[in-house]
Amino acid sequence: MDTKLTAIQTIQGEFTLDLKQVTSLAQVDLLSTRYLGKHGQINTLFKTLPIKSDPQTGRKINDLKSVIETKITEKINQFLSLPTSTTFDVTTPGTPTPLGSLHLITQAIEEIENTFLSQGFVRRRYPEVETDWYYAEGLNIPPDHPARDDQETFFIDQDIVLTAHTSNGQLHEMELKKAPPIKMINIGKTYRRQIDASHTPMFHQFEGLVVDKDINITHLLGITEFFAKSYFGSDRRTRLRPHHFQFTEPSFEIDVSCGLCNGTGLIAKNACKVCKSGWLELGGAGMVHPQVLKNGGLNPDQCTGFAFGWGVERVLMMKTQLPDLRLVYSDDIRFLKQF
Ligand code: DAH
Repeated sequence: MDTKLTAIQTIQGEFTLDLKQVTSLAQVDLLSTRYLGKHGQINTLFKTLPIKSDPQTGRKINDLKSVIETKITEKINQFLSLPTSTTFDVTTPGTPTPLGSLHLITQAIEEIENTFLSQGFVRRRYPEVETDWYYAEGLNIPPDHPARDDQETFFIDQDIVLTAHTSNGQLHEMELKKAPPIKMINIGKTYRRQIDASHTPMFHQFEGLVVDKDINITHLLGITEFFAKSYFGSDRRTRLRPHHFQFTEPSFEIDVSCGLCNGTGLIAKNACKVCKSGWLELGGAGMVHPQVLKNGGLNPDQCTGFAFGWGVERVLMMKTQLPDLRLVYSDDIRFLKQF
């Protein structure tokens, strides 16, 4: 018999025996080195047999090499309990890992934040648990003032509250900056004792404050229009309605034209069910009261400012017509997965 062939068959026989005795992954590894490694049996065959003058022998060694590779792969897969088929398709997609998504309100906050950042506002976060001074007295709301009744505040003790609006951030920002210019958007959690289809005890507000020399109502109008058009759509309009807040003078409520009836209040000659009047209330705003500027350490003879405080959930409901706000905080995954 051809001695070259014998040499190849001997190695094949040894490998078959060795493979049978393997009992662990580590041993498969050793086997692989012994036969396929740089100084392994296969390479030794290549070096010792005259493959250049006898290409057929070269081919036979290569055949043996593939057999050994396949068997070793099968053995490894056995130990890893993987399918032993050598036609395993590595391009088959794996089992997808379930991925969460940002909460609907987090998405709304990001959108609102980016809208104001684009106009040069700085994003701030101020305390949710607050002293009465920042929450009310410093904003011109003395103890026992009826304006306190509107807010259904949660008290921690007589002087500490869960803040019912983000306006406390106004005084903090003035103290932080010490001087104009100020241009902040404070987005945070707020709390009130309320729950129905459009109210939850915890909700979010975004509070704008702009203070500089010669700031006037047209600046407030400009920002309001910009927000309404960016957030709700370029066809939306805004209007001011006179109102009263203790910490602004003059004060307004801001309305946005209804997207459903396009501000007409009518749909096919019937009253629009969403707004009834053509307008939807966005929230409060006004020119910062001189006393509030003083309380924040600024000089009202040298600067003026405007402020507004609007609800994140409120603008989201105005935009998406969510049927019930409580769903947003229900942690019902079937609802939340839609966003
Ligand atoms: N803090 C008021 C509220 O929650 C909203 C508000 C009104 C904020 C007028 C302001 C403002 O900054 O100027 O009801």
